[in-house]
Amino acid sequence: MSKNILVTGGAGFIGSNFIYYMQKKHPDYRLVCLDSLTYAGNLHTLEGARCDNFRFVLGSITDRELVFSLFEEEKFDAVVNFAAESHVDRSIEDPEVFLRTNILGTQVLLDATNKFGVPRYHQVSTDEVYGDLPLDRPDLFFTEDTPIHTSSPYSASKASADLLVMAYHRTFKTPVTISRCSNNYGPYQFPEKLIPVMIANALADKKLPVYGEGLNVRDWLYVDDHCKAIDMILENGRIGEVYNIGGHNEKANIDVVKTIIKAVGKDESLITYVTDRPGHDMRYAIDPEKIKNELGWYPETLFNEGIQKTIKWYLENEDWWQNILSGEYKNYRGFDE
Ligand code: NAD
Ligand code: TYD
Repeated sequence: MSKNILVTGGAGFIGSNFIYYMQKKHPDYRLVCLDSLTYAGNLHTLEGARCDNFRFVLGSITDRELVFSLFEEEKFDAVVNFAAESHVDRSIEDPEVFLRTNILGTQVLLDATNKFGVPRYHQVSTDEVYGDLPLDRPDLFFTEDTPIHTSSPYSASKASADLLVMAYHRTFKTPVTISRCSNNYGPYQFPEKLIPVMIANALADKKLPVYGEGLNVRDWLYVDDHCKAIDMILENGRIGEVYNIGGHNEKANIDVVKTIIKAVGKDESLITYVTDRPGHDMRYAIDPEKIKNELGWYPETLFNEGIQKTIKWYLENEDWWQNILSGEYKNYRGFDE
């Protein structure tokens, strides 16, 4: 059955990959992208999504009037909320916008979901709400029952949003699901996150800034596997449930950096150890048993294959990230209504 789905934050990294994933998997679905085009939103990214079943709306999830009129007009079958401020380092510099977008924006979407009786609201959350795990306990993983224990203003804002989503479910019976995914990588990731920063810098023979000793561990997931999981949750996930998403691809940052250096044929002398991030989480690691057992999800792309695909994409799409580095991408308004 065809559906009309609101994808917020679809001009960003994961939201855009989700739009492409869904267009391929469900060509009959109509997808409406609502994005305010912050520094992280890029309309070039959505160029390939243009079709009769796709609409781009410029606007913020915090704009109650706009959101309500969009819900009234479109009569959505589902909302998938990717829109967020997403970078930990920026949240340390300036937390306020994280609280506004990530918490209050979520509230507006939940209110609109209730008012217009949307049958499903899906919140895209993160494993960072669980805080971190120690390096010397490789037997420990985040499950859905791990207590919320946040470290950064970013993760605190995402955790607050999750609490609000669950509170709306309990109080108003809002039909919600939440997914908490580990670190994603793949095409269209903004060159401020570890992997694209390292690829872009290495190609330009610039220093590769590794925080602290580079021993922090992240559980990397190829972005399409995240998109697949969200699609499966929309189809068969149980209302009121949280699903962790991760593929047991744990890597220390320094090993990721060395893999990139090797793949682009540069020298490890580019590595430079810089002052650590305050409050830096040591290790993230997801236990994905629930989504595997309930929905049959499994990751299709392991790190060694995914990182090579990603590097190849950045090599073949240098215009995309050079436009960002130069700031030119901000001048493009091809989808404005
Ligand atoms: P991103 O920063 O690349 O993209 C965010 C998008 O949201 C941008 O297009 C931006 O313009 C838009 N946006 C920001 N504020 C908005 C607002 N007020 N109204 C409308 N649009 C707004 O982020 P991402 O890496 O694609 O992450 C997407 C979601 O997934 C976030 O909610 C993030 O917390 C979550 N997540 C990310 C990762 C990861 O590794 N990147 C892992 C787990 C979960
Ligand atoms: P990041 O991509 O910002 O994601 P997150 O903080 O959400 O996990 O960072 C991934 C890891 O890489 C994290 O441990 C911080 C580290 N890092 C660096 O060492 N250097 C960098 O330039 C960046 C951006 C991150």
